[in-house]
This record gives sequence, structure tokens and C-alpha cells, in this order.
Amino acid sequence: MTILVAGATGNAGAQVVRELLALGSPVRALTRNAAAARFPAGVEVVEGDLTRPETIPLEGVTGVHLLATAGDDYAELTTGPELVARVEKAGVRRATVLWSGSPSPLEEAVTASALEWTVLRPVDFMSNTLVWAESVRREGVVREPFASSRSALVHEGDIGAVAAAVLVRGGHGGRTYTLTGPEALTVPQQVATISAAIGREIRYVELTEAQAREEMLAQGRPPEVADFLLRWRRDMPAVGYTVDRGVEDVLGRPARSFASWARERAGSFVSAGGTR
Ligand SMILES: NC(=O)c1ccc[n+]([C@@H]2O[C@H](COP(=O)([O-])OP(=O)(O)OC[C@H]3O[C@@H](n4cnc5c(N)ncnc54)[C@H](OP(=O)(O)O)[C@@H]3O)[C@@H](O)[C@H]2O)c1
Repeated sequence: MTILVAGATGNAGAQVVRELLALGSPVRALTRNAAAARFPAGVEVVEGDLTRPETIPLEGVTGVHLLATAGDDYAELTTGPELVARVEKAGVRRATVLWSGSPSPLEEAVTASALEWTVLRPVDFMSNTLVWAESVRREGVVREPFASSRSALVHEGDIGAVAAAVLVRGGHGGRTYTLTGPEALTVPQQVATISAAIGREIRYVELTEAQAREEMLAQGRPPEVADFLLRWRRDMPAVGYTVDRGVEDVLGRPARSFASWARERAGSFVSAGGTR
């Protein structure tokens, strides 16, 4: 019953690992650099690269959790068809695929396969707001563009719980679930929620798009990533701000709120060693 988790060191994948362990499933965590990775006890850590499917150890695996992007600039994974062929050949039964904001070769290959596949379409992760942690800690400020754009941001723990339930329990083959939180919030509403969680005032400063791009590049984001994020927020598609029942449909309980996420992660906005 081993489940292989790609992106296991990432925001969403770490939660998939955690939730699989909670369901009692053996987990094989994939990373490009095992020496740098930290996992809970009991996780089998393997090295492999999604851009080279032959490097992914699939022996004994019954389910896989896959990403549609690769590399630190979130480039589209072009080896999807090869990867899916190997997964099928290895006798894997179930697969979840994380949507990356647009259709991908991986998603196409998985949905055309004989696997019991499920596509998970999360909108903005709540953890994206951790990019504000440093300026909140240092200056009590959040600088962001597009004050009025709303996002139905999703708790990454809910993404993990949905993926684990689908992979372990089954019964969701051929389905696509859009994963959102329970409400769509503007940037100032998100800032106010974090402010309430840490018990400190946080000032919101609206940036122009050009200023925001400059800040993202100064933080080390690749230009393609900065442009993608700015375009997404400027021209947010309806899926980004429409609350969906996907989490509840799979888990039988409501999606977790941004207020609960902010309370869990309050430490990160207060001190550098705070909880993540
Ligand atoms: N953030 C959002 O709001 C959002 C919304 C919708 C969809 N998504 C999608 O969700 C996925 C996960 O996002 P995240 O924020 O959890 O990611 P993240 O924290 O940035 O982590 C990226 C993960 O991808 C792995 N990875 C990268 N290139 C790889 C390769 N060539 N081979 C194997 N593993 C590779 C990394 O593993 P190692 O470095 O350990 O090798 C790491 O675990 C991405 O595909 C993203 O596009 C994100």
C-alpha cells in the first residue's frame, strides 16, 4: 500500500505526507536531494527527478501523488506522458495530480490513462501569505498590489487531507476537485486576519504592479514566476475567487478557514524561528 509523494518537501506535498501517515499508510517521499530533506519518522525517502522519469523508484508503489511543474521556476513538466507510462507499467493503481493553474501534459496523460486518477485543483495556498512574514516581523507592514482582488485561498493541510483520503480510501476515480477555503478574501481582509491572529496591528500598503514586480525580483523570484503571479492576481479567473465544495465533498467536513490557518502560523509572523 506504499504511496509515492512527489513534491514531498514542498508546502502541499509535506501535508500529503503528514496526512498519509495519519491514515496509517506507508509513504515514499520523493526529493531531488535526500540529504537536505527533513521528514517525520517512518517515511521512506528516495531521490528522483520528475524531468527524468526513469529515476523515480516505483517498485511496490500502489498510489502516486504527482505535480505538473518541475524546477524552482515552476516550469511545466514536459515528461508527463513518459512518467505516466512508467507509473502504469509499475502496476500503480491510483494517482492524484496537482493542477498548476493551467492544463498540462501530465494532467492530459493521467486523465487518458487506465489509472484510477483524480485531479486536484487547489487555488492560492494560504501558505503563500508567508511571503509577508518578514515585513510583518520587521515593520508591521504588508506591501501588495491589487487590494480589491479576492482569493478563495485554501489551507494546504486540506490539500494534503484530500489527496491522502483519495489515495488511501479510493472511490474518487475520474473526478476533478477544485479545492478552496470557505470564503474569498481581499488582501486587506487577509492582512486583518493575520493581524487578529498575532494581536498586533499590521499596516497594508498597496503597491502598483510595477513596484510589486520589482519587490518580487529583489526577493529572488525568477521573472517568469513574478509575471505569472502578477497576471494571476490582476486577471484572476473565476476559479480563483469562487468558493467550491471540493474539500467538503471528499472529507465530509468544511474546508478550514484562513483565520484558523493564521492562528496556527502566527509564530512565523512574530519571530523568525516561528512555526511554519
Ligand atoms: N502555491 C500555490 O498557490 C499553488 C496553487 C495551485 C497549484 N500549485 C502547484 O502546486 C505544486 C506544489 O506547490 P508547492 O507550493 O507545494 O511547492 P514548493 O513548496 O515550491 O515545492 C516544490 C516541490 O517540487 C519538488 N520538485 C521541483 N522540481 C522537481 C523535479 N524536477 N523533480 C522532483 N521534484 C521536484 C521539490 O522537491 P525537492 O526540491 O525536494 O526536489 C518540492 O518538494 C506546484 O506544482 C504548484 O504549481 C501551487
